[in-house]
Amino acid sequence: METIILIGFMGSGKSTIGRLLGEKLGQRVIDTDKEIVRQEGKSISEIFAEFGEARFRELETSVLKALPEYDTIVATGGGAPLKEMNRLVMKEKGIVIFLDAPADEVLLRLRDDHSRPLLKGNKEKEIRERLISRMPIYLETADIRIDTSGKTPEKITEELIASLKKRGQGHTC
Ligand code: S3P
Repeated sequence: METIILIGFMGSGKSTIGRLLGEKLGQRVIDTDKEIVRQEGKSISEIFAEFGEARFRELETSVLKALPEYDTIVATGGGAPLKEMNRLVMKEKGIVIFLDAPADEVLLRLRDDHSRPLLKGNKEKEIRERLISRMPIYLETADIRIDTSGKTPEKITEELIASLKKRGQGHTC
């Protein structure tokens, strides 16, 4: 089965859906943020603070380039598609799925989260503005868009599998 790459804003459920999809389809799951943390031996916040966002994006690119093209579910960081090279690599590596979540839900989910360096200031403003500016990029990069609004992770995973089946990618489930 072709590799499945989940993109979407912070808090859109990429890691949760990635794990559920991996379980349902019996595929390995790679979380690019976790991979970067493992390789660098530092948290995402430490990487941003010590080396800056540009360096973090480079690390993202090298993790994306090393992805297998088959039998893998990938949860990416919310900013991965911002870089053109990353968009190209993701499209080359597999089917790109955009988990579309409204700003209000993202805000609710990340209310008590302090781990995202890009949301350290005015969280609501950062979420709303970044989501608006990134939306065209997510839409342009994705092969499939899933509206996650008001849905449980199980429901989202079911819909995603149904979309993949329609594309002829769901034969293993
Ligand atoms: C980022 C999203 C984060 C992480 C980093 C930058 C972004 O991942 O990669 O903090 O630019 O949107 P999540 O989408 O898993 O929160």
